[in-house]
Amino acid sequence: MIAPARAVNGSVALPGDKSISHRYAMLAAIAEGASELANYAAAADCQSTLGCLRRLGAGVEKSQNAVRITGNGLRGLRHSWRDLDAGNSGTTIRLLSGILAGQSFRSTITGDDSLRKRPMRRVIEPLSAMGAEILSDPGDRAPLKIQGRALHGIEYTLPTPSAQVKSAMLFAGLLAEGATTVREPVQTRDHTELGLEEFGVRVERGDRSITVCGDGVKLLPRNLTVPGDLSSAVFFLAAALLLPGSSIFLHDVGLNPTRTAVLDVLAGMGAPITLGSVRELNGELIGDVSVAYTELEGAEISGAQIAQLIDELPMLAALGPYTERGIEIRDAKELRVKESDRIAALAENLRRTGASVEEFPDGLRVAGRASGKLRGAEIEPHGDHRIAMAFAVAALGAEGPTQILNADCAGVSFPGFFAALEGVVER
Ligand code: S3P
Repeated sequence: MIAPARAVNGSVALPGDKSISHRYAMLAAIAEGASELANYAAAADCQSTLGCLRRLGAGVEKSQNAVRITGNGLRGLRHSWRDLDAGNSGTTIRLLSGILAGQSFRSTITGDDSLRKRPMRRVIEPLSAMGAEILSDPGDRAPLKIQGRALHGIEYTLPTPSAQVKSAMLFAGLLAEGATTVREPVQTRDHTELGLEEFGVRVERGDRSITVCGDGVKLLPRNLTVPGDLSSAVFFLAAALLLPGSSIFLHDVGLNPTRTAVLDVLAGMGAPITLGSVRELNGELIGDVSVAYTELEGAEISGAQIAQLIDELPMLAALGPYTERGIEIRDAKELRVKESDRIAALAENLRRTGASVEEFPDGLRVAGRASGKLRGAEIEPHGDHRIAMAFAVAALGAEGPTQILNADCAGVSFPGFFAALEGVVER
């Protein structure tokens, strides 16, 4: 139950970045020796990755806020008799597929009901072109049965912008003979490229193309710190932007330029976003982010920007009713194949709160302030963490209490989210 709030003020300790945590864990599991990963994400998704790596024979020891992973080299993983369970995590199943495709054993990887409905053709197709043997359920769905094979490098242009597909191919490229080049028409998050370099792999980066060479490659173990998750930070920035008298300060947030488009959109709507102590950490940019309440203009978000703020669109859409002109999102049909059909889930729940919404095949238009104040409602997140959190934040400015059904799904990326939100709320 979320009661309306007067304001939010204070600071929040963010979980480690989900995308970076997955990558560091997988890279550590194929490195030669022990890596220590500080601020590793508590997110259930990142714990699914650790569970899979453990089943594949990597050493995984957790302490308070760090994880120590011991790898036996690129080909040091071993067959798991039990299916690998990626849970709700698209990043786990897609990225690991790249590593499993080039091993000398067979693996089956699957996940929860949501993950088993998501499209896997996008990884099966390019990995098969590299020589992989992957069987799937009808409709190219998980479970994926991956028979490890000798792979060869290819050149591939991503038909849909996807950091997950790019990363699966680069991982497979480490195990392939010759060079693997991925071309991406639109820049997506580059944590894999930066992570590979941190673990000592040479990565050639051209204009929208990335090449790795498999021959004789070795990964060195590393001690790394994961930045705070900007995608989680956005819920608190949004909370401050919908309640007058609010301000939020967030320490050590990941500010990789392929992830910060959401800050540009908020700033473009008039939000006074301030960055401080920006520095480099293990090849990634990190810094402090703060914002204070201001009346937001509204925005149209489309085109190349979409891939760079894809995970922040639920929160931006749910901010729509608090803006002057409203929010319009286009070119985002990928939202329909995330943890839920996020366009449908946003439209349904925005309507439940009384907002005025127009749904398109590739996005939605949410009317601004003039169409009236939101009212508290029952929210159905369809098991999707970002829908649950976006509506929890929007509920702070509504009239009357809001009930989020199955709210625990927030733990997929942010265990402790509701306590963290309550910690900054003033009533
Ligand atoms: C992710 C990439 C994005 C994003 C997902 C995490 C990653 O998916 O939506 O939450 O860690 O690579 P796509 O690359 O499939 O768009």
